[in-house]
Amino acid sequence: MSKLIALIAGDGIGPEVVLQATRLLEWYRDKHGYDLGLWRVDLGADRFLRDGTTYPQDIAERIEGEASAVLLGAIGDPRVPSLDYARDILFGLRFGLDLYANVRPVRALSDRLVPLKGRVAKDVNFVVFRENTEGVYVNIGGQFKRGTVDEVAINEDINTRKGVERIIVAAFEYAKAHGHEVVHMADKSNAMRHAHELWQRVFVEVAARYPGIIGKHVYVDALCLYLVQDPTPFKVIVTNNLFGDIVTDLGAALQGGLGMAGSANVHSAVPGRVAMFEPVHGSAPALAGRDVANPFAAFLTVGMLLEHLGYAGQEARIERTVAEAIDARQCTRDVGGELGTAAAADAFLARMPTA
Ligand code: NAD
Ligand code: IPM
Ligand code: MN
Repeated sequence: MSKLIALIAGDGIGPEVVLQATRLLEWYRDKHGYDLGLWRVDLGADRFLRDGTTYPQDIAERIEGEASAVLLGAIGDPRVPSLDYARDILFGLRFGLDLYANVRPVRALSDRLVPLKGRVAKDVNFVVFRENTEGVYVNIGGQFKRGTVDEVAINEDINTRKGVERIIVAAFEYAKAHGHEVVHMADKSNAMRHAHELWQRVFVEVAARYPGIIGKHVYVDALCLYLVQDPTPFKVIVTNNLFGDIVTDLGAALQGGLGMAGSANVHSAVPGRVAMFEPVHGSAPALAGRDVANPFAAFLTVGMLLEHLGYAGQEARIERTVAEAIDARQCTRDVGGELGTAAAADAFLARMPTA
């Protein structure tokens, strides 16, 4: 049965990298007979500025009812400073589809890209499980006496038993499936005694259900220190929405930059429910329209998408090809090459093994 992929190119460099990622999907469809349907969805700043549309009900329903996956470029445009439309789209997908696990691999694919002194690619190889439906991102809160000297601004931090447990379980299930012996949980329970006491308690409870896997707690500030000093002990990290966002940009730096980091937003590891895939990077407005954006984060994201849809081995195959392209310097300038976005994608596609 055909698998429908909704393509939301979005803003800034989003359309440029999604164009190349679409070529990769078409390559799989045309050269390998993958039964993929491609549905281009016009959402983002241009659409919003044109007719006020952010994330309409009919598109949400078609995505939920008909699509197998969503591939999103990036949303965010300086012409719309409030970014309300961007949250509507991004959180409309993440929350609306209950994509509670934001899975962000931090895997360096070439020694050359690792910025840490004395470290090589194999030293940087972990996956962050970022809670994706709660925390401060739900935007429960408000402002009072705005613009006065007495003004108050509140963003509540929502942590539910169900939400905390399911992301921790997802991390342990991943560790179990991949033979990892340690899962790290990062919080700030020393400062946030209510919410993160819940994280601590649930983490210990869940860890007890996985004999053979050790649950180790780490404060998120110290985690940032350790990841730079020595990332080798980290294989699986689970954390909340905000900390996961921050830690994965740090992680992207360990991989060679945001042009190298892909991600999946999934309801669970089991296929069958629509999931959303996006590079970790944003719309990089300063790079937009200049044919300089690195398309590899989007390619690695396509790898995660295909793997999730059941095309086994494609994530690793795309990773290997990206690694080879990096080593051959057939890549964009941010990762030490001299090619533009389109030329880097051409070289990548020419390199993809056909068997
Ligand atoms: P950004 O990720 O767009 O850029 C951060 C840095 O990384 C910049 O120096 C940029 O040039 C570089 N970079 C990012 N992607 C790159 C690529 N593919 N190739 C080469 N270099 C790349 O983050 P920002 O500047 O903080 O945010 C810009 C806008 O994007 C904001 O509106 C933000 O809210 C939005 N954003 C959206 C998403 C998303 O839609 N998933 C993710 C992150 C940021
Ligand atoms: C990301 C982005 C988003 C987030 C922004 C654009 C709201 O930084 O996907 O990493 O914080 O989740
Ligand atoms: Mn981010």
